Amino acid sequence: MNTKLRAFIKRGSPLLAGLLAVAMTAGAADPADKTFESRNDMFKEGFPRQHASWKSTADMDFHSKHLGNTFEDVLEKDPRLVVLWAGYGFSKDYNAPRGHMYAITDVRNTLRTGAPKTDKDGPMPSACWSCKSPDVPRLINKIGKEDYFSGKWASKGSEIVNPIGCVNCHDAGEGKNMSLKPGNPWLKDGLASMGEDISKASHQDMKSLVCAQCHSEYYFAGPNKEVTFPWKNGLKVEDMEKYYDELEFKDWTHKISKTPMLKAQHPGWAMWKQGVHGKNNVSCSDCHMSKKQDKGVTFTDHRVVSPLRDIEGTCKTCHSQDKAYLLEATYTRQEQIDEIKLKAEDLLVKAHIEAKAAWDAGATEKEMANALKLIRHAQWRWDFSIASHGASFHAPEEALRILGTAVEKAGEARLEIARVLAKHGINDAVAMPDLSSKAKAQAFIGLDMEKLVKEKEEFKKEILPKWDAEAKEKGLL
Ligand code: HEC
Ligand code: HEC
Ligand code: HEC
Ligand code: HEC
Repeated sequence: MNTKLRAFIKRGSPLLAGLLAVAMTAGAADPADKTFESRNDMFKEGFPRQHASWKSTADMDFHSKHLGNTFEDVLEKDPRLVVLWAGYGFSKDYNAPRGHMYAITDVRNTLRTGAPKTDKDGPMPSACWSCKSPDVPRLINKIGKEDYFSGKWASKGSEIVNPIGCVNCHDAGEGKNMSLKPGNPWLKDGLASMGEDISKASHQDMKSLVCAQCHSEYYFAGPNKEVTFPWKNGLKVEDMEKYYDELEFKDWTHKISKTPMLKAQHPGWAMWKQGVHGKNNVSCSDCHMSKKQDKGVTFTDHRVVSPLRDIEGTCKTCHSQDKAYLLEATYTRQEQIDEIKLKAEDLLVKAHIEAKAAWDAGATEKEMANALKLIRHAQWRWDFSIASHGASFHAPEEALRILGTAVEKAGEARLEIARVLAKHGINDAVAMPDLSSKAKAQAFIGLDMEKLVKEKEEFKKEILPKWDAEAKEKGLL
């Protein structure tokens, strides 16, 4: 290829990048749709620097004081979570997020997706693939949103096989110009529901919106279980709480307290908007994707990772403070929030278990209604403030404010329950279980982990190789 042309593209000319994308995919084995090229390696020749750095999201070599891209079993670290999510998939298995290259591997391997034996089997709907792969926009383009969402997770196992890549964030493929473009359609709908038009977004806005399509609170709406952003009333925790309450929506019923629960799902973009960087439109990629030089060419490092890995290339492009100060500023905020977070968790664990004692003592639905509503709101807020993993840095004041209301509501719930318990003749403290390990907590909520793990192992051995073989036949891998 013409080296001058290449150099141009490496400097980020979208138009020429488009021409190159055409040249690059021409003559390739026929994928399902070249205009949504989901095979990330097809971009290797045209965009070697972006491709190589994208691929390195597979590296697991960085750990900051609290986060990082290494493997971490969150339930083992904090067994309270098992009780908080009793009756829901997250109590079985929950690991800290790692690099985008693992998106397919991790959703296949987690106990939360179960061990389906057929296309119609398993606990999760198709929607569970939605933030994992460039095959999602490709498939939606091919069969439509309705058919994409219909059916079980396993029904798309041989279609969705490539980890998060170019088509998720770029208008990438034959005849496309490689500009930033969120591949998933529900972001556009979510923004429209609050009166915003994605076509009016600037390039700087797009540098966060491409992340917002996945790093956002969502729920599975309607009988077809379509990914939907609950943004109609606004982006704050109370706005989304109101949205769900109006719908009487619940993600699950808590196994111990019988509360109709909400699970918050990483509202990264919404929380970022509440913080000082979001308010100054410092984008996600300004911090998580630094600029690099290679032989005189500036390009965007596509290794999306903790910015603390490269403070020089991220924070210090704007800040003149030294590295130690910036690290300290981050860690202090994280630790202040962790302290309150644990207090909220302790109260919530007690509230769930005390609610069970009240039911066991003969409490009526009417007596419990107020307490359960308080538990629902307290846990939703606790979850919302931490589930995006980055909020204690992105918006520390807002995270603390939300956690404050979670502590208040969990405390109020316990007071309510104490009154109900007293009414039924119980005045002593309710005994608490030993939650010193994940295994003990899982036994307490009645999970048969041995069975779940065994079924999953069989699924990995028998079903996954079939999915990959079928995907290869279709030309998707
Ligand atoms: C198509 C959906 C999708 C898009 C788009 C996306 N992410 Fe992610 N992101 C994920 C998923 C899923 C994970 C967790 C992957 C895993 O653990 O297997 C993740 C993980 C991460 C992590 C943790 C990485 C680590 O090393 O621990 C960071 C940081 C991150 N994303 C930031 C971003 C930023 C910044 C953007 C936009 C430039 C972005 N993401 C765009 C879905 C997405
Ligand atoms: C998680 C989102 C995301 C993914 C996945 C992604 N990109 Fe990007 N890419 C960006 C962002 C954001 C920018 C723009 C940064 C800016 O303008 O400051 C960018 C910029 C670019 C540019 C312009 C030149 C440059 O380096 O700034 C090219 C070319 C590019 N990406 C190619 C790719 C290719 C090829 C892939 C797949 C291997 C890919 N990108 C995957 C988000 C992504
Ligand atoms: C001003 C810089 C900055 C901006 C802007 C920013 N982040 Fe972060 N982000 C950080 C820092 C610092 C951390 C904490 C990293 C650590 O402790 O290692 C973090 C953590 C995260 C994490 C958790 C990573 C992990 O390993 O678990 C995710 C996910 C994330 N950010 C996504 C986003 C998204 C999505 C956006 C935009 C909506 C965004 N960030 C905007 C600086 C930033
Ligand atoms: C693209 C520019 C940019 C980048 C990159 C950036 N910041 Fe900032 N930062 C800002 C701006 C703008 C403000 C607000 C300054 C003000 O209000 O005077 C700010 C404010 C802050 C503050 C003060 C927060 C407060 O509560 O007032 C801290 C701490 C901070 N940044 C840390 C970091 C760290 C750590 C990183 C890297 C992970 C980082 N920033 C990356 C632009 C940036």
